[in-house]
Amino acid sequence: PPNGYLRPAGSPVTVIAHRGASSAAPENTLVSQEVARRAGADWIENDVQPSRDGVPFVLHDGTVDRTTEGTGPIRNLTAAQLKALDAGSWFAPQYAGQRLPTLAEQLADLRTRGGNLLLEIKGAHSRDEVATIVEVIRAEQMTSRVFIQSFEIDALRHSYALAPELPIGLLRGSLDADPVALAKELHLTAYNPAAGALLGKPGIVTDLHAAGVAVMAWTVNSAAQWQQLERIGTDGIITDRPAELAGWNAAL
Ligand code: G3P
Ligand code: CA
Repeated sequence: PPNGYLRPAGSPVTVIAHRGASSAAPENTLVSQEVARRAGADWIENDVQPSRDGVPFVLHDGTVDRTTEGTGPIRNLTAAQLKALDAGSWFAPQYAGQRLPTLAEQLADLRTRGGNLLLEIKGAHSRDEVATIVEVIRAEQMTSRVFIQSFEIDALRHSYALAPELPIGLLRGSLDADPVALAKELHLTAYNPAAGALLGKPGIVTDLHAAGVAVMAWTVNSAAQWQQLERIGTDGIITDRPAELAGWNAAL
């Protein structure tokens, strides 16, 4: 059966801003989200992980070392300690003072200013940790504007069990032998492979579409690959360059 995330032939691909507009502003911050929104991104992609005291924060790496002045695993730091860090200066001085957003803050920003979220549950999460993420999404009244994705099959199973109304996508670096069977088993709304892997076996897009499963490819920054992915029917493209992809799309 078709689902609402399948792209009708001839229509633009869904523009998904990887960690926000991460080529133009510090990734996974509210400013990168704002830049992506202004660029015309359909969705923002980001990554969520819990603080030591169980608050879901928006951060890609397992540690705060690369994108803040702090050190150590996010799971060793409390929400208060994470909030004290500067998450913008590493990218450029003009972004000094950007903070690591909590998931709740990010969702509130999307709710009031607009935008949808492709939320990656990053790394292994317990059922209770996924339950907290679901609670935050529900409390922010954003269930209809969030799409969950993860490389972690267990996290997707927890999400589906706790909140079957949230669409889920499986991230893969290489293709499964039978993506359709896996999609059915896991109740996937989308199958989200690395672009290079997908382009090596483009027929799986047709197979997944026939089963009602959408396909979103990551992380693609060249127009040559956007064109190849569009031609094989890919529904959404995750990119660090949402303004350029939106412009390319509009010119189709
Ligand atoms: O959205 C897919 C992509 O974000 C997966 O890789 O490492 O950037 O989270 P990563
Ligand atoms: Ca990600």
